[in-house]
Amino acid sequence: NTLKLIQTVYEIDQLEQLPAPQIILAGRSNVGKSSLINCLAERKSLAKISATPGKTRSLNYYEVVPHGYYIVDLPGYGYAKCSKTERAKWGKLIDSYLEGNAYVVAAAVLLDSRLSPQKNDIDMLSYFIQCSIPILPIMTKSDKTKQGDRAKIQNQWQDILKVKPMCVSSKTGMNRTNLWNLLDRTALP
Ligand code: GTP
Ligand code: MG
Repeated sequence: NTLKLIQTVYEIDQLEQLPAPQIILAGRSNVGKSSLINCLAERKSLAKISATPGKTRSLNYYEVVPHGYYIVDLPGYGYAKCSKTERAKWGKLIDSYLEGNAYVVAAAVLLDSRLSPQKNDIDMLSYFIQCSIPILPIMTKSDKTKQGDRAKIQNQWQDILKVKPMCVSSKTGMNRTNLWNLLDRTALP
């Protein structure tokens, strides 16, 4: 599989319906969403990454070639360094995107493998659950954690979500193929 950037949306009125299955990539700022896009695509800078949280400020549609479904990279939440109005604007953009969008098949929610469950992650997960969107939990930056510590956090998430998160690393490519298989299985009939 490869990824192709199809559309970048900053404003609600730029949103248009793309009639194909869509998997959302969501998670707090800096958790590694854009890095995971690059890892999946095996490209260094398809998606812009940054050590400063809040890099991605748009909805980015990536087409999965050759399957024709989309991965949609969302702006991160919980970014402290931006203004409240800007944060509210992102919230509205995401709300409008999800509203009545029957093409969203799942949300891949990225969770930092170094952190035990955090309130803002649980808030985001609750939001997707309220919208009846199935969740694919993914633990990022696994190269930065020891297997034992990671397993503990994985179990904590499993208790909450009833699903065990998949551990990935964009740096080492850990579980890259397994993640592609999971995404394909989720998006394709
Ligand atoms: P926003 O666009 O701000 O929402 O952030 P994001 O979730 O897209 O995060 P991004 O991919 O920009 O990565 C944030 C930082 O984490 C960068 O400095 C990355 O190099 C680093 N990072 C991301 N994934 C990994 C990983 O798997 N391992 C390690 N070691 N660092 C990572
Ligand atoms: Mg990003």
